[in-house]
Amino acid sequence: VSDALVLFMPSGRRGRFPLGTPVLEAARQLGVYVESVCGGRGICGRCQVSVAEGVFAKHKITSSATHLSPFSETEARYAKKRSLADDRRLSCSALIEGDLVIDIPVETQTNRALVRKRAEARPIEREPVTQLCYVEVDEPDMEQPLGDTDRLVRAVEAQWMLHGVRCDFPLIPRIQETLRQGDWKATVAIHDDGQPTIVAIWPGFRDKLYGIAVDIGSTTIACHLSDMLTGRTVSSSGTANPQIRFGEDLMSRVSYLMMNPDGLPALVKAVRGAIESLIDKAVGDAGADRHDVLEAVFVGNPIMHHLFLGIDPRELGGAPFALAVSGALTFPARQLGIGINPGGRVYMLPCIAGHVGADAAGATLAEGPHRGDEITLLVDVGTNAEIVLGNRHRVLAASSPTGPAFEGAEISSGQRAAPGAIERVRIDPETLEPRIQVIGLDAWSDNEEFTVKIDQVGVTGICGSGIIEAIGEMFLAGIITRDGVIDGSLAARSARIQQTGRTFSYLLWQGDQEIRITQNDVRAIQLAKAALYAGVKLLMDKYGTDHVDRIKLAGAFGSHIDTKYAMLIGLIPDCDLKNVAAVGNAAGTGARMCLLNKSYRAEVEDLVRRIEKIETALEPRFQEHFVAAMALPNKVDPFPNLAA
Ligand code: FES
Repeated sequence: VSDALVLFMPSGRRGRFPLGTPVLEAARQLGVYVESVCGGRGICGRCQVSVAEGVFAKHKITSSATHLSPFSETEARYAKKRSLADDRRLSCSALIEGDLVIDIPVETQTNRALVRKRAEARPIEREPVTQLCYVEVDEPDMEQPLGDTDRLVRAVEAQWMLHGVRCDFPLIPRIQETLRQGDWKATVAIHDDGQPTIVAIWPGFRDKLYGIAVDIGSTTIACHLSDMLTGRTVSSSGTANPQIRFGEDLMSRVSYLMMNPDGLPALVKAVRGAIESLIDKAVGDAGADRHDVLEAVFVGNPIMHHLFLGIDPRELGGAPFALAVSGALTFPARQLGIGINPGGRVYMLPCIAGHVGADAAGATLAEGPHRGDEITLLVDVGTNAEIVLGNRHRVLAASSPTGPAFEGAEISSGQRAAPGAIERVRIDPETLEPRIQVIGLDAWSDNEEFTVKIDQVGVTGICGSGIIEAIGEMFLAGIITRDGVIDGSLAARSARIQQTGRTFSYLLWQGDQEIRITQNDVRAIQLAKAALYAGVKLLMDKYGTDHVDRIKLAGAFGSHIDTKYAMLIGLIPDCDLKNVAAVGNAAGTGARMCLLNKSYRAEVEDLVRRIEKIETALEPRFQEHFVAAMALPNKVDPFPNLAA
């Protein structure tokens, strides 16, 4: 026999290879991703594999460690220097000498990103756009008048089998010194999105490579640092968006610019400064060096996207909501001056439309409605709800002006979700007496623990998820009618129903502070939920469906609301409740996917081109849907799943 059968696990890819082929080479040929920084020189140890021994009847293979060439000198050298577990071999050095089942260990294959947050815990297959390549470069001589940079490029091409390699211009002045420092050995970072480019260089061997994914929200900014060689998220940091001082919500920031045309640099500086310190913190926490951060991926709504890039977003303040740029962008970090390696590349996900940003694109990529047959509704509830509906045949997107009511603004006792805010409400339909839970105290108000501890926490207001439950429970208890009117006749039955002027309110909590749900509060929520629902209905109309199979609620608000109440008040359409789920920070997950795998970049760019953009303001039926959706849960649409 002159060849052998090799099966790679866990991918299950297999093929026949001539005896003497390095295992790494076999993996490459089969498209099995095995990390290598040193190019098979036995220096980096990233290419470790182990042999699964035994008879694998299903695959007709008998695999044994003896079917590999004996431990090589290179491996012995590596093992001595950096230690190698008993069952591990360096795949660049171990040669195939018989049939084999090769196990690719988790850290060699891809990653299993281990982070706390549910949505981020998802494993993402790794195929980074930037990789480290160790090279040994010929020394110059008098006969060959080739520049040092050119010799470096040739070495990279020859040793890493690449074509058309370029070198970033700003790097060239440093090449000579670096090559001499490393005694003609160097590690380069190659960014390859079709055109392989040397973007950074270090003397000698280096195996540290990081990337960051940043979700620029209008209220908070979150940053995750990933080890690009393992795919693990090594640290995370978050902060409030300092632009809040220019306006709570996005539109007020645009208005600020309309009134202060010279204000753009201050807004840009605020967001970049915050990102700068987040990167600092994430890098510091991980004990990394910011020069080893070579990739940065950003998502944000259209206005944050523009402000971060230094683009005046005033055009987005009114029809036709023109974006300065909607496609994905890749450019060197030095052009923005953010604190990663200046040659590192920034990638901005594409925006879908003037109101539906790169954050929605990221969330759609992460949740993948376009990959399945089920009609999936993805909603990110904020002051502007971003709505995506569809399946693998068609995907539609729109935004709805819900206003800030869901974030607690415009509500008499409304507040942001913070300790002291009421977040859970139950009302006894007989006595009309409420029970509440507040953020920061894990007990219901009729519990002793609550009574003992509430003074430390205090009840300060009600947050968005709390108000939705309060209204849902008031509706269930008959305190509000289907039209959203607080029934004053109940005042005779319960002291909690009180008249203020011409309308009634419900007293939810009486402590240092009175927390009421007023008629105006109910109206504000009705308006917000009707706007959202009308947007969803429009997309359903356009798609030509009367139902959705699955609903995913993204974003901070979406993660906190009880889906049952969201449906009860008609914030979302009817759907089997077990198919309604909060998906957390899906936009951030989409950013991490694009960070770790370049095929996701291609996927999201293609997806965004395919998405049909619906402008709710231009649709005559929007108003009709809106009016019907003012009722609880809806004037015309049935909610069979609620009855069940
Ligand atoms: Fe670097 Fe095998 S590829 S040690």
